[in-house]
Amino acid sequence: MSAKGRFITVEGGEGVGKSTNIEHLRMLLRAQQIGFVETREPGGTPLAEEIRALLLVERDESVSSDCELLLMFAARAQHLAQLINPALERGDWVLCDRFTDATFAYQGGGRNLDWDRIAKLERLVQGDLRPDLTLLLDVPVDIGMARARQRGDLDRFEREQLDFFERVRRAYLARAEADPERFRIIDAAQSLQQVQQQISQVMQDFFSHGS
Ligand SMILES: Nc1ncnc2c1ncn2[C@@H]1O[C@H](COP(=O)(O)OP(=O)(O)O)[C@@H](O)[C@H]1O
Ligand SMILES: [Mg+2]
Repeated sequence: MSAKGRFITVEGGEGVGKSTNIEHLRMLLRAQQIGFVETREPGGTPLAEEIRALLLVERDESVSSDCELLLMFAARAQHLAQLINPALERGDWVLCDRFTDATFAYQGGGRNLDWDRIAKLERLVQGDLRPDLTLLLDVPVDIGMARARQRGDLDRFEREQLDFFERVRRAYLARAEADPERFRIIDAAQSLQQVQQQISQVMQDFFSHGS
């Protein structure tokens, strides 16, 4: 039996550079010859990607916050069963673009849902599973939004107002402060090269100490 793989998540609001820096993380993991799977939330399996599409599409009907919350966890249950847990069990690492911290930030912070409700679902769906390392890419909201806008069409979340994203950012930072063992906050307002340097440093420590 091989050792369990490590579970690494990349978090942050819109346009902070998650996708861009996951490419950098991919390169760092390859250089260590670590087997890994790269995935994202909501999504990561065909069914979970269908749920993602349901969540992101603009619609006339307003979406209840609980419906959104439960769809997030429905997608997560499928993702865990089909992809994340099997990968970790066979010893692969998992590199995931957003996970449950995003639910606390968006549905908790953004939509003002009670964190206890979310924590109950977290336990129900994940049991004890938590990421081993979470990189929180943090930038002031206006910078992230300007970067996201460059990418083109905005989805249902990206069309939210500034105060929504301020609450998302504050919730992410509160999560990170509450769990400094797991989180590393990356100042992602810097140049891409500087951001990558911070990430390389964090990963070097993680590879050598497992923390
Ligand atoms: N540190 C940075 N400085 C300037 N632009 C950046 C930086 N990181 C990413 N970008 C750009 O910002 C945009 C959004 O980045 P992306 O990785 O798609 O963000 P996310 O996946 O977090 O939404 C892209 O056009 C990307 O090239
Ligand atoms: Mg992205």
